Amino acid sequence: MIPWWYTAGSTLLLSIGAAAWDYSTYSSIDFQPPKLVVNKTGTTEPGFLFLGPRGGVQTAGQAALIYDDEGNLVYEGPEEVTANFMVQELNNKSVITFWAGEMMDIGYGYGSVHILDSSYKEIHTVTLEGAFVTPDNSTKDSYIDLHESIITPQNTLLVTAYNLTQHDLTSINGSSSDWMLDSHFYEIDISTNEILNSWSALEQEADIPLTTSHQGLGSDVGTQDAPYDAYHINAITTTNNGYLVSLRHMWSGYYLHHNGTVIWRVSGEDGGDFKQIGDAGFSWQHDMRVFNETDEGLVLNLFNNANTPTNTESPTTGVSLAIDLTKKTVTSLRSLSDPSDSIHSVSQGSYQLLSETSGHVFMDYGSISKVKEYDGDGKLVLSAQFGEDNAVASYRGYRCQWSAVPFWSPVANVTTTNNGADVFMSWNGATDYDNWVVYSGASNDSNGQQIGSANRTGFETMISLTSPPTSPIHVVARQGETVLGTSDSVSF
Ligand SMILES: *[C@@H]1O[C@H](CO)[C@@H](O)[C@H](O)[C@H]1NC(C)=O
Ligand SMILES: *[C@@H]1O[C@H](CO)[C@@H](O)[C@H](O)[C@H]1NC(C)=O
Ligand SMILES: *[C@@H]1O[C@H](CO)[C@@H](O)[C@H](O)[C@H]1NC(C)=O
Ligand SMILES: *[C@@H]1O[C@H](CO)[C@@H](O)[C@H](O)[C@H]1NC(C)=O
Ligand SMILES: *[C@@H]1O[C@H](CO)[C@@H](O)[C@H](O)[C@H]1NC(C)=O
Ligand SMILES: *[C@@H]1O[C@H](CO)[C@@H](O)[C@H](O)[C@H]1NC(C)=O
Ligand SMILES: *[C@@H]1O[C@H](CO)[C@@H](O)[C@H](O)[C@H]1NC(C)=O
Ligand SMILES: *[C@@H]1O[C@H](CO)[C@@H](O)[C@H](O)[C@H]1NC(C)=O
Ligand SMILES: *[C@@H]1O[C@H](CO)[C@@H](O)[C@H](O)[C@H]1NC(C)=O
Ligand SMILES: *[C@@H]1O[C@H](CO)[C@@H](O)[C@H](O)[C@H]1NC(C)=O
Repeated sequence: MIPWWYTAGSTLLLSIGAAAWDYSTYSSIDFQPPKLVVNKTGTTEPGFLFLGPRGGVQTAGQAALIYDDEGNLVYEGPEEVTANFMVQELNNKSVITFWAGEMMDIGYGYGSVHILDSSYKEIHTVTLEGAFVTPDNSTKDSYIDLHESIITPQNTLLVTAYNLTQHDLTSINGSSSDWMLDSHFYEIDISTNEILNSWSALEQEADIPLTTSHQGLGSDVGTQDAPYDAYHINAITTTNNGYLVSLRHMWSGYYLHHNGTVIWRVSGEDGGDFKQIGDAGFSWQHDMRVFNETDEGLVLNLFNNANTPTNTESPTTGVSLAIDLTKKTVTSLRSLSDPSDSIHSVSQGSYQLLSETSGHVFMDYGSISKVKEYDGDGKLVLSAQFGEDNAVASYRGYRCQWSAVPFWSPVANVTTTNNGADVFMSWNGATDYDNWVVYSGASNDSNGQQIGSANRTGFETMISLTSPPTSPIHVVARQGETVLGTSDSVSF
């Protein structure tokens, strides 16, 4: 099977061996998340790890997943392909956001963006409709692509979309009516799905010429089912004057006016509109983010893949660049990598500045199923893996602070033993409880007796009862003495 991130035009397909990764199982709930193997070597920032693994030997556990720093599962979402699973602020409240949908082999997708409150209730489902052309002419419920789902300071949502169109590619040795993918982005009103602004790379062809693409137009590319992906949009962020958009196949970021016009371009190849100072190069990048923007300049952070499936150049790095609009320079500020683990990530990946004060950065290595956290001095403080390299990927990964009391109840399962019973209990997604109490009787029986208790141990806790309980029982999840959740009656 060819993973979706192998872009059309690739001539070399890496062989993917059967992935032998360990998956966890539980007695209280039917989940099989991949085991997260964590190596913590320093002090990390607070928060949980948010991942969206995809691929590998099984689809069970392919879901939006939250883990803690010890590798314990905290939350498993529905089994589906996700991207950009993270915590964001919406109207000053912390919410969970993620894309879910269908991925195309040629490296983009069709889906929707889901927004959940701190009880995991879906409060918004953002979709995009329109006259999009698809490889097989099929219509989709929503045309939002997987690459971006960022909430802006104005509480709107920025998303990407890919549209097929026929275009004159003779400037790059194609035909006058080859099929290609146009890269779009949309700013959408979260409550109404109204499109507030939209942009097309092809409409800016004068400023973004096809001849600057690093994506080769292979002989097998240019048809409706294998369109040429000239730009490959993969990140958008708002700026003081409009937007900054990352086009991976151009090795460039474009600073746009609100009306879509290109104001300037920074290129990882030659600087673009800027003179490169130090090692300010990058290629095949993901997750471009803007910080500290003033009229004189800004800081640009990005995940520098520096590799493709057909071309493994130099190690992947996390890059921070200073752009000086007065001197017209782009200067390298930081370049992050783990000297003991040289990674070549051919696709996907993210760079998250965790704190401007500490300078900690969290990176997800995309097609390499690892995440790493670096401190302000660039020293590795955490490294974790959740699958076999190049078989399991997470498009992006984040460390986020999150506090949730799920709208569903805790669950328990009882296994009777020779002289008692083992009670297994868990509460998917609950972050704040720290101990369990087992009670005799049905969950609505206020005369139930406490027959066992224990502190929480990770995702699932087991309590051994030394005398045989009578069916049913129920369990209660607490924070200290405060009851946060009560299970249904558990019969056995
Ligand atoms: C609960 O326990 C029973 C008997 O021990 C077992 O058959 C069942 O599969 C368990 N449920 C889950 C969700 O693991
Ligand atoms: C954990 O990380 C340290 C520092 O990079 C390294 O020396 C050690 O080998 C790692 N341990 C494992 C089990 O990977
Ligand atoms: C969010 O908080 C800021 C500052 O506390 C306030 O000015 C703003 O009105 C709030 N926005 C919303 C949508 O509640
Ligand atoms: C899609 O529709 C167009 C117009 O009807 C047609 O020319 C084309 O062959 C169709 N393509 C596919 C893949 O079905
Ligand atoms: C997609 O491309 C087709 C063909 O060029 C065009 O007719 C259509 O308007 C485009 N869709 C959008 C949403 O721009
Ligand atoms: C187009 O073909 C010519 C002649 O083979 C070659 O020199 C040139 O590099 C090609 N241009 C592109 C963009 O592939
Ligand atoms: C967009 O704004 C820029 C800067 O103000 C201006 O130069 C350009 O003409 C505008 N383009 C369009 C299409 O309105
Ligand atoms: C942004 O500026 C603040 C204040 O000068 C500084 O503390 C911070 O490190 C800067 N952030 C970045 C990413 O450069
Ligand atoms: C508890 O729930 C059971 C089953 O729903 C019901 O039959 C019973 O009357 C309830 N008992 C109390 C005390 O509410
Ligand atoms: C349970 O946790 C509390 C609070 O962290 C601690 O004081 C207590 O010793 C723990 N009890 C056991 C049995 O580990």
